[in-house]
Amino acid sequence: MNVTIGHRAEHFRTVTFNAGTNSVQLIEQRLLPHEFQIVATKDYRATARAITEMVVRGAGAIGATAAYGLAQGARAFRGTNLDRFTRHLDSVFNTLASARPTAVDLVNAMQDVRRQMLTGVTVAEQQALALAAAEDFANEDVRHCEAIGRHGARLIRTGMRVLTHCNAGWLAFVDVGTATAPMYAAQAQGKKFHVFCDETRPRSQGASLTAWELAQQKIPHHVIADNAAGHLMQRGEIDLVIVGSDRTLGRTGEVANKIGTYTKAVLAARHRIPFYVAIPLSTIDWNLKRGFDIPIEERHEDEVLGAWGVAGKNPLRKSAATSGKRTYVRVANPESHARNPGFDVTPPELITGIITPAGVFKPNALWKNRLKLGFSV
Ligand code: MRU
Repeated sequence: MNVTIGHRAEHFRTVTFNAGTNSVQLIEQRLLPHEFQIVATKDYRATARAITEMVVRGAGAIGATAAYGLAQGARAFRGTNLDRFTRHLDSVFNTLASARPTAVDLVNAMQDVRRQMLTGVTVAEQQALALAAAEDFANEDVRHCEAIGRHGARLIRTGMRVLTHCNAGWLAFVDVGTATAPMYAAQAQGKKFHVFCDETRPRSQGASLTAWELAQQKIPHHVIADNAAGHLMQRGEIDLVIVGSDRTLGRTGEVANKIGTYTKAVLAARHRIPFYVAIPLSTIDWNLKRGFDIPIEERHEDEVLGAWGVAGKNPLRKSAATSGKRTYVRVANPESHARNPGFDVTPPELITGIITPAGVFKPNALWKNRLKLGFSV
């Protein structure tokens, strides 16, 4: 998407690869919306750390980052011994796979890369194939998001008020986003609508990232406190909900997404508001049989006990030092501890439809349509 800094609009992808320096280039998302900076990870361990520490976050974006990280690790190998190369690659794979547990895109992306690498017979061939496959994954992520936009735009009519949760925008993918794709497509069709962004505590991806994207895109919006959605729904001020997902079970239609999604789905059902989930194919887990078995990331309690923000005036700048200072403030009672589950699971009966690149499906129809949805044995 285009980012306007000062008066200049420039196109950026969230994740790219520099083959010359063998580095992954990432938008430093922890600094947004206060500062726009691109950072580079120099080896696969640093790439894994960038995922864990949420320099880059969002299911598709960490999928592409892991795919590039695997290629980066493969390309750093020196020698021609294929057995040693394969053992090295296993270790790169495991390091990246354990960077974050809930989004399945990360493992799906790396499995894609590995499958394509196996068509090469020498180390050099496999190294070249790794980068080509990672680029394919990133490009496919963009195409999938564009297709989600085409299928989802018809759900948005002029005058609607649309609620979204967390950030399933272009920052969470390589470009375009999933929950935001129908919004961007509807805007391109000339429709006028309003978006409510759940703040999304504890890390506030809605307030900081989705609101920033929508402002960049000139889509009218308000940030609301996470607790405000029920009230707005009760007053008839929300017409449609679109969220993303970090793992959707192809066998059951259960949807893991940012903590608080389940609450919004319950509220939407109570008020008969359509609740849609937008996903690329890399977010589908065809193996797990129960949502209860999805690994739910527990993050550090400090995220709940306090908040990050910027003190002082801080204009958006490209890679210059900020004038304000990014600061953590403690909010909670000093002696208290917190629980911090990062995701929850929404059951299929609360979901109106899943917007995929192949069309919109009822959640319990994913399995029946598995061939269309990229299932391979
Ligand atoms: O913890 P995050 O920011 O990586 O959370 C993932 C998400 O971006 C959301 O759950 C989003 O709604 C899913 S779509 C990428």
